[in-house]
Amino acid sequence: MVLALRYPLCFLLLLLLLLLPFSTTAQTYSNISLGSSLTAINNKNSSWPSESGEFAFGFQQVEGGFLLAIWFNKIPEKTIVWSANRNQLAPSGSKIQLTTDGRFVLDDPKGSQIWSADSAGARVSYAAMLDNGNFVLASNDSTNLWQSFDEPTDTILPTQTLYRGSKLVARFSEMNYSEGRFLFTLQADGNLVMYIIEDPTDSVPSNSSYRSSNTVGSGFQVIFNQSDYISLTADNRTILNQISNAASSREFYQRAILEYDGVFMQYVYPKDASSSTGKWPMAWTTSFLMPENIYMGIPVRAGTGGRACGFNSYCRLGDDQRPICQCPPGYSLLDPNSKMSGCKQDFVSQSCDEASQDTNRFDIQAMPNTDWPLSDYRHFQSVTEDWCRVACLDDCFCAVAIFRDGDCWKKRIPLSNGMTDPIVGGKALIKVRMANSTSQFEGGGPKNNDQSTSLGCVSELPPTLISSKQISVRPLKAERHKLHCCK
Ligand SMILES: *[C@@H]1O[C@H](CO)[C@@H](O)[C@H](O)[C@H]1NC(C)=O
Ligand SMILES: *[C@@H]1O[C@H](CO)[C@@H](O)[C@H](O)[C@H]1NC(C)=O
Ligand SMILES: *[C@@H]1O[C@H](CO)[C@@H](O)[C@H](O)[C@H]1NC(C)=O
Ligand SMILES: *[C@@H]1O[C@H](CO)[C@@H](O)[C@H](O)[C@H]1NC(C)=O
Ligand SMILES: *[C@@H]1O[C@H](CO)[C@@H](O)[C@H](O)[C@H]1NC(C)=O
Ligand SMILES: *[C@@H]1O[C@H](CO)[C@@H](O)[C@H](O)[C@H]1NC(C)=O
Ligand SMILES: *[C@@H]1O[C@H](CO)[C@@H](O)[C@H](O)[C@H]1NC(C)=O
Repeated sequence: MVLALRYPLCFLLLLLLLLLPFSTTAQTYSNISLGSSLTAINNKNSSWPSESGEFAFGFQQVEGGFLLAIWFNKIPEKTIVWSANRNQLAPSGSKIQLTTDGRFVLDDPKGSQIWSADSAGARVSYAAMLDNGNFVLASNDSTNLWQSFDEPTDTILPTQTLYRGSKLVARFSEMNYSEGRFLFTLQADGNLVMYIIEDPTDSVPSNSSYRSSNTVGSGFQVIFNQSDYISLTADNRTILNQISNAASSREFYQRAILEYDGVFMQYVYPKDASSSTGKWPMAWTTSFLMPENIYMGIPVRAGTGGRACGFNSYCRLGDDQRPICQCPPGYSLLDPNSKMSGCKQDFVSQSCDEASQDTNRFDIQAMPNTDWPLSDYRHFQSVTEDWCRVACLDDCFCAVAIFRDGDCWKKRIPLSNGMTDPIVGGKALIKVRMANSTSQFEGGGPKNNDQSTSLGCVSELPPTLISSKQISVRPLKAERHKLHCCK
């Protein structure tokens, strides 16, 4: 009351804000009854909001069509937290319908079914968009027959639980909601694992994990509780792993998402500007992230895809701890709209025809602390950097040479597993075609010549564990050097 007397206007405003949501939205809400439908129409909002209006279910237009989705409805971003048809966007005119015979189906304008909710044959009696972001289909005795919380896409919300066998699959890119390349799953065996999904067209497709809780046999549920903690629990409810503890408050919207770049992130967003007290911007702010340096955790493997960043590109860790995929000098993105598509050479490769004087048309661009492990075909020891440069320039197969502590590795296209980080050390010498330049270098010859045995290397990097208090620990230099080669 003292506060109220000293700041009467503030108090009144606060009271008004507290009362507002209840007075305006309560009378507009009702359950979605049989026979209801929504149609996807360009530039028109068609949705069913939850009682509080905080979430809505309906169509959102994205590039390429419509998503049948659930989103945060009270913020300008309308952030999507679930979608039904991310791998098959709905064209304009598509319709989601709760049929009079109790089925929930999404049809395109020609009447072909794009998606349907599987209520295991039971008759749905009504649907409801709940205030926690869960969309449910219920029977006439109010039993949930189907709920969006049981079929997560890439996001979980407070009050949502992941069970054994549940998985989050990241979207393809920031704006493309199709299934992408990363997987966060509580496996049937109880282990909570994060995987990079290998390209199925690879000769030996296999998903490699970059994070594991090591809870085979004991992991039971991942719970995002009302206090905004995400925990991995055993079936006796003991907490095995405290995955995150966000800035807990009822004043924030919260979500946790497996981002398209493979990082599991928890975000908060102030519910209204007055409660943010200037400390929090009216935007999604990261409150938790795992793992901290994702591409150091992904095991390096030869012979398969270009790793997370794509062939010929390299990964750098941004200030926000998120990976950034970049192309080396002389290269550009394969798909300009997708940073993770990999890179292509912007110049014609060196000719191997001896008659052509092509060698003189190339130069080296050096990038410190950069490497593409395992793409090498020749290794020389006890050489100088200049010798390494010339060796690459003179070799029509060589695209990049790595020079580090007197070692010189020649690499050819496509380069894979690329990364730049102070712990890498040395430098990458990238061969690029120059219009009019001639390069001349001098140096000593190799004292030792290790033939091509470095092909077929394996990684001994241990998968990092999900630690309880810290987000993650950067791998030590010693661990990076555990990469070894096999004959
Ligand atoms: C929705 O339906 C359920 C079950 O019939 C009922 O308990 C609830 O009050 C209904 N809610 C609204 C807002 O009509
Ligand atoms: C859709 O809703 C948003 C916010 O609720 C509003 O800003 C926008 O103008 C609406 N668009 C249409 C076409 O009604
Ligand atoms: C999204 O990415 C997928 C996978 O590469 C692709 O097949 C699809 O066409 C993309 N969608 C859009 C709208 O660009
Ligand atoms: C609920 O549905 C079942 C069959 O779907 C029916 O047998 C039962 O009578 C219905 N109950 C009510 C209260 O309508
Ligand atoms: C990799 O994960 C994807 C997504 O869960 C799955 O479809 C695929 O079968 C897995 N591949 C292998 C080789 O395990
Ligand atoms: C609960 O289960 C975990 C893992 O199975 C076990 O380590 C722990 O001792 C159990 N705690 C209790 C109180 O039963
Ligand atoms: C949420 O989880 C945290 C830690 O696991 C626990 O301390 C807290 O009591 C839980 N809150 C609720 C509402 O379950």
